[in-house]
Amino acid sequence: MTETRHTAILGVGAYRPSKVVPNADIVDAIDSSDEWIQQRSGIKQRRWAEPDETIQMMSVAAAQDALEHAGIKGDQIGCVIVATVSHLLQTPAIATAIAHDLGTRQAAAFDISAACAGFCYGVAMGSDIVKAGSADYALVIGVERLSDLTDFHDRGTAFIFADGAGAIVIGPADEQGIGPVVWGSDGEQFDLIRQREDWRDVVGTPDQPGSGVMPHLVMQGNPVFRWASFTMAKVAQEALDRAGMSVQDLDVFVPHQANMRIIDAMARAMKLPEHVRIARDIADQGNTSAASIPLALDRMIAEGEAKSGDRALFIAFGAGLAYAAQVVTVP
Ligand SMILES: CC(C)(COP(=O)(O)OP(=O)(O)OC[C@H]1O[C@@H](n2cnc3c(N)ncnc32)[C@H](O)[C@@H]1OP(=O)(O)O)[C@@H](O)C(=O)NCCC(=O)NCCS
Repeated sequence: MTETRHTAILGVGAYRPSKVVPNADIVDAIDSSDEWIQQRSGIKQRRWAEPDETIQMMSVAAAQDALEHAGIKGDQIGCVIVATVSHLLQTPAIATAIAHDLGTRQAAAFDISAACAGFCYGVAMGSDIVKAGSADYALVIGVERLSDLTDFHDRGTAFIFADGAGAIVIGPADEQGIGPVVWGSDGEQFDLIRQREDWRDVVGTPDQPGSGVMPHLVMQGNPVFRWASFTMAKVAQEALDRAGMSVQDLDVFVPHQANMRIIDAMARAMKLPEHVRIARDIADQGNTSAASIPLALDRMIAEGEAKSGDRALFIAFGAGLAYAAQVVTVP
């Protein structure tokens, strides 16, 4: 019987697709402007994956980066958790192919579908799996190719969604480096962000012809904006409370990179002190859903804004509506 042990994030990695798409390249299709997009969302550019930058390829690259940072080999990983909504094959889980590519010893591997909240769900699950002794090291990957699911003529989403992958390694630690998760869902608002139609509607039935078009993501931007700005600050505060901390004890705030105005509204509502560094990766990266928090953290570490031992607050939220938050120690 393994005793309950402490867990921490041991390494962080990222993969950013090579193709940079500035606002100027997308405005014509949605009758918009660089100025409008920047003012409403804070986004200046995003990255869209090329055909060879698959979910699997980007995940493996981010994971290898995280393994190197952690000083852990692929064959030590006992569990691979992949948070994504844009792996277009319903089954099997892409995590199994990624676990194989990384040279794990047939690690447990599965995907989770919690949209933009998926990465924080994965951190909570990975930490509990290692704590319980079900694996010594767990890999949590957030990865999306949302450009595959975006209608480039939809004014409400075409400028927001983007592609990329981020990963972390979770392992045993002397002190607890991953705080209790505060998570939940509000299925009453199931329709606010969703795939427009299901696969049966696309393919059709003998009686009813299908649409034959990709089932793009649709979003009711205004209610999502209000929900995220006003409700999520309370969830973030609860995660701090459960970790026994106040905003004064915090060094870094890494919210889901949904929209710069939501990030600012949350920081105001939480009364974050000046010294707390805030992730603003969305300006260059767009909204990469499950990948956004590890991508943002990776950048903060690379730019010296997040240092080893810093206390960071994660909060993620999106379709479902699903949400999760926890305090972690930066590796
Ligand atoms: C998407 C979002 C930026 C739209 O901003 P908004 O202020 O709610 O926009 P609205 O839909 O109310 O439209 C306001 C005006 O902008 C116009 N507009 C909408 N989309 C536009 C676009 N892409 N470019 C230019 N103008 C646009 C509308 O026509 C409307 O014009 P009007 O006032 O003359 O009628 C905003 O709702 C938002 O950020 N929501 C949250 C999205 C998000 O973060 N999702 C991720 C969660 S995981």
